[in-house]
Amino acid sequence: MLITDQKEESNLSERDLSGMLKFREKMSITDLDLKNKRVLVRVDFNVPLDEYGNITDSRRIRMTLPTIHYLLNENCRIILVSHLGRPGGQKSEDLRLAPIYKRLKEYLPFVRIFHAPDCVGPEVENMVKNLKKGEILLLENPRFHPQEKDNDPIFSGELASLADIYVTDAFATAHRKHSSTYGVCPYFKQKGYGFLMEKEMKFLTHCIEKPKRPFTVILGGKKVEDKLDVIKYLIGLADNVLIGGGMAYTFLLAKGYSIGKSVRDLTRLDNIKYYLKEANNYSTKIYLPRDVVVCDELDYPTEIKTVPITEIGDEHVGVDIGEETIEIYKKILSQSEQVIWQGPLGVFEKKEFENGTREIARYLIEKEIFTIIGGGDSAAAFEKFGFQDEVSFISTGGGASLEVMRGVLLPAIECLSDK
Ligand code: 3PG
Repeated sequence: MLITDQKEESNLSERDLSGMLKFREKMSITDLDLKNKRVLVRVDFNVPLDEYGNITDSRRIRMTLPTIHYLLNENCRIILVSHLGRPGGQKSEDLRLAPIYKRLKEYLPFVRIFHAPDCVGPEVENMVKNLKKGEILLLENPRFHPQEKDNDPIFSGELASLADIYVTDAFATAHRKHSSTYGVCPYFKQKGYGFLMEKEMKFLTHCIEKPKRPFTVILGGKKVEDKLDVIKYLIGLADNVLIGGGMAYTFLLAKGYSIGKSVRDLTRLDNIKYYLKEANNYSTKIYLPRDVVVCDELDYPTEIKTVPITEIGDEHVGVDIGEETIEIYKKILSQSEQVIWQGPLGVFEKKEFENGTREIARYLIEKEIFTIIGGGDSAAAFEKFGFQDEVSFISTGGGASLEVMRGVLLPAIECLSDK
């Protein structure tokens, strides 16, 4: 049985972008009266950490520095709030913001920065009271409280009471309706977006509103559920969709191929079949790998080889796209004027399986094809290869940029002041 919403599917090409474009009607940090004020700044410092708790990619922190510098110039008292990971509403020593605090101090050596033991409560209120102009207080992970994700109004009010003005620069979390991203807004008269949010939204909305064609989207990565749903928004919007990474195997399964022990999402299988069929009615072409790199065991592989998709054995795990696929994808990209890339094409974290992601990344840079990279994993792949400064734009948001592609106004922007 097909589990798609037929009403929605019948309008695949009639996309309403008016929601997304409302972003332009909202106040930015430069519209706010900030001088000497206490400002609560929602940032997304949800950075990847290694097993020892060291930050492996600090882009999300670096990218907020223009907003922080602007507020320092305005003589503000800055209160930063960010989640880290998914602690599930409980305190977790591994998900405290200590490594972020340390990195922040390295980036801002001449600023006095403090780290609160929590994000609400009398001790935090006291720290805010003692905060001087031009100083920064980093709050502890709000996701230690279940109320954060529940968007609890009392918790939101407590957070909001710490400041006079609200600024959001947390693009990567802007699709979440949580207390610190959304619930705090009604408590502030003045609330606007920061420079990172502005940059992200300008790049993405421009690419979706007036795409330069041919417009190619590369979809990969392991967060299969999110991306599988995005495919329906790309039909009729993109000219080409190149599939790779973990999500490719559900597509191959939908086309009737055996995928061995590769990752799959059976709950989306019927939808995928439908979209593959439906794409034929539009000008969007969906490309699947023709060959893949497989191994017997992801952690300690004893056998790694490239096989055509017709020869994936029961014992195989798919881990990368093969050489033939790389060449086909390069050819399509060579004719593209605009590319959005969401999710790596293989298990790039392991040297043996990074080839597809690295080769396509290198090609886009060499050919100077306008490319926006979305999602933490894709950004981490570019950092790993040392390509991060050579690509047109790396978005800090994964799920959030996928939401923008749908054409909706993100909740964290919707709740800001109108101009
Ligand atoms: C992300 O990394 O995508 C953002 O920080 C949001 O995190 P979340 O998916 O846990 O809400």
